[in-house]
Amino acid sequence: MLSVLALLSAALAPQLVSGQVPRLGGVNTAGFDFTVYTNGSFTNNAAAPPTWQYTHFSAEGANLYRIPFAWQEMTPTLGGPINETFLYDEYNPIVQAALASSPDAYVIVDVHNYARWNGEIIAQGGPTNEQYASLWYQLAGFYGSTPRALLGLMNEPHDLDIPTWAESVQYAVNAIRAAGAQNYLLLPGSNYTSAATFPTGAGPYLLNVTDPLGGTEKLIFDVHRYLDYDNSGTHAECVTNNTEVFETLVTWLQANGNRQAILSETGGGNTASCDEYLYQELAYIKNSYPSMVGFSVWAAGSFATNYILSMTPYANGTDQPLYNVAVRPNLPAPV
Ligand SMILES: *[C@@H]1O[C@H](CO)[C@@H](O)[C@H](O)[C@H]1NC(C)=O
Ligand SMILES: *[C@@H]1O[C@H](CO)[C@@H](O)[C@H](O)[C@H]1NC(C)=O
Ligand SMILES: *[C@@H]1O[C@H](CO)[C@@H](O)[C@H](O)[C@H]1NC(C)=O
Ligand SMILES: *[C@@H]1O[C@H](CO)[C@@H](O)[C@H](O)[C@H]1NC(C)=O
Ligand SMILES: *[C@@H]1O[C@H](CO)[C@@H](O)[C@H](O)[C@H]1NC(C)=O
Ligand SMILES: *[C@@H]1O[C@H](CO)[C@@H](O)[C@H](O)[C@H]1NC(C)=O
Repeated sequence: MLSVLALLSAALAPQLVSGQVPRLGGVNTAGFDFTVYTNGSFTNNAAAPPTWQYTHFSAEGANLYRIPFAWQEMTPTLGGPINETFLYDEYNPIVQAALASSPDAYVIVDVHNYARWNGEIIAQGGPTNEQYASLWYQLAGFYGSTPRALLGLMNEPHDLDIPTWAESVQYAVNAIRAAGAQNYLLLPGSNYTSAATFPTGAGPYLLNVTDPLGGTEKLIFDVHRYLDYDNSGTHAECVTNNTEVFETLVTWLQANGNRQAILSETGGGNTASCDEYLYQELAYIKNSYPSMVGFSVWAAGSFATNYILSMTPYANGTDQPLYNVAVRPNLPAPV
């Protein structure tokens, strides 16, 4: 019996522990993060993303869904236990709907807290590294048997001490492995996860984060980049295709042990400038695989169809014009 089990687990093992993440492309499905402020405060306007969107986008060839949540929803007490009502009855059913929409679908489990809890920075006056790691230890216990769940360690850290932040990231990585989870992990830098400042900012420090599993192929760097004039993702017009930014990043990744990064937020408005520049940006990302694993565009989910960066399809099933022109053709296997 033992040898049968050993054989069985050997046969299943490659799926879990080896191989590369395939080329990914899709959207953020926001809602559980309504409203986390950039200071890490949460005023709870949470709205679960509608599950029909996953089958909708997967039928078009999308295979990546980033699903943000507020830290305060997952552990209402800092460092305390997960709220199982929230995880089991609200968050996880959405994750499972995304995973079920295609055998090739991946999700990013994204704690959307800017490295903060109620205005204070992790290990820099706010939550301790142990409290932060406790969140991930518990989530890793839950998602450790779900290899298509990529664990996004933190959304958009900013205005913090980078060497200290890299130590916090290491705490989270260690906690996830201590829980027995072998998932791919997404490691964020500072400056709101800026792709532009990563190679000279947080990148050198995050290169030194180690994986208790050995190797670094399961540690993927997480970057964001918008295309408006101030890179804030708040304007309808795009002014760049960011090719220079991503050329610099890809060169840096290749020069530092062929590491990988993922563009987990980008986007624009329904304008001719974004039609052109977002298309070009996503084509560049797609062509930069495997250095760039892929992209998820901000944002569908519970956003209204008239939100300035909306990727939410209309009620009649029609997609946003920008999605049709710039995103859909750059999906991994557009249908
Ligand atoms: C746990 O989550 C449920 C569902 O969102 C919520 O109703 C409840 O208030 C939460 N409990 C705490 C202690 O926040
Ligand atoms: C966080 O920012 C929000 C929005 O600006 C503000 O209302 C709130 O008071 C801030 N919270 C803290 C703890 O600073
Ligand atoms: C990036 O963040 C660091 C500190 O977190 C700050 O010193 C630096 O000015 C920021 N760089 C840019 C380009 O915003
Ligand atoms: C990373 O680790 C190496 C080897 O210990 C060290 O030389 C280097 O200074 C570290 N990099 C940073 C940015 O701390
Ligand atoms: C991005 O724009 C530059 C300048 O217009 C252009 O040379 C480059 O080919 C564009 N990149 C892509 C991937 O289309
Ligand atoms: C679907 O709705 C959108 C927004 O109202 C509209 O622009 C589009 O023409 C509609 N498409 C179809 C096929 O009815």
